[in-house]
Amino acid sequence: MKKVSFAEFGGPDVLRLIDAEEPHPGPGQVRIAVRAAGVNPVDWRIREGQVLGDRPVELPSGVGLDAAGVVDEVGEGVEGVGIGDRVFGEGASTYAEFAVLSAWARMPEGLTFEEAAGYPSVVETALRVLRESGVRPGQTLLVSGASGGVGSAVLQIARDRGITVIGTAGPANQDYLRSLGALATTYGEGWVERVRALGRADAALDLAGSGVIRELAELTGDARKVISIADLDAPRLGARFSGAAGSVPEALTEAVRLISRGMLHIPVEKTYPLAEAAEAHADSRAGHARGRRALIV
Ligand SMILES: NC(=O)c1ccc[n+]([C@@H]2O[C@H](COP(=O)([O-])OP(=O)(O)OC[C@H]3O[C@@H](n4cnc5c(N)ncnc54)[C@H](OP(=O)(O)O)[C@@H]3O)[C@@H](O)[C@H]2O)c1
Repeated sequence: MKKVSFAEFGGPDVLRLIDAEEPHPGPGQVRIAVRAAGVNPVDWRIREGQVLGDRPVELPSGVGLDAAGVVDEVGEGVEGVGIGDRVFGEGASTYAEFAVLSAWARMPEGLTFEEAAGYPSVVETALRVLRESGVRPGQTLLVSGASGGVGSAVLQIARDRGITVIGTAGPANQDYLRSLGALATTYGEGWVERVRALGRADAALDLAGSGVIRELAELTGDARKVISIADLDAPRLGARFSGAAGSVPEALTEAVRLISRGMLHIPVEKTYPLAEAAEAHADSRAGHARGRRALIV
């Protein structure tokens, strides 16, 4: 089968489309014929050799966590899903024709494979940071970097819960943030005053890692009310860093519930063929997105 792989850490050009052995599911896993793989920033962070936890990456390595496709092998002890089912979920080396998933859910009606591949990591992260922020219905959450994959999910889940959001994004994404129910303003010079003019925040999320922890602490009145998913300096400045993934199966169940009720939609910014994974990584790394990118297999 075809699979995207890299044998050394480095820029997008280390990615190769290779012929590889097909993977098979272990106990509690399923294998899918991948139809689309979600492109997440963590994919290029791993490819660059950034240290993202205590599990070292062994080379050569496949790429990709999120995918959607059709189940074609079922591991020992797996119940409730069968060959031919359309599922989305999280696994390993998903930029490939076949991939093993360790967490999955049936795709909701009406969702395309490329849309579905964009949800798993994004929704897990959004639910986690909302929980850790402690923000309650009726309160206001400030979100720096609100238009990307994680931001798109945070805004819609917050709206569903009756939480007001003030979000920052680039000029091209202001109407997009408003369409997700947020009060919107641009980042860049003068943004603190612009946010203050929109209201008082009970908690804040830094989703872009753009060096704004001090300002978010000032706007919420307390650094402990600030959570970052992208700035490793956050704890040194008194804020919290959220890094340990929560339950992906629970997140997928919640994603299906929200999507089916029409309360959550992550748009697809752009799709690429598997052979153009390097271009997808370069685009993701540029740091401007509306929703998620996906590789079509
Ligand atoms: N710790 C964790 O568990 C965890 C989990 C998931 C993701 N992450 C990290 O969190 C970050 C966001 O992930 P993502 O998937 O949402 O990324 P993404 O889809 O690429 O979105 C990035 C967003 O950042 C915005 N942005 C760029 N420069 C900005 C600035 N100076 N100020 C404010 N916003 C800015 C962009 O807005 P415009 O396009 O409007 O400019 C874009 O919407 C990545 O660094 C990722 O590695 C961490």
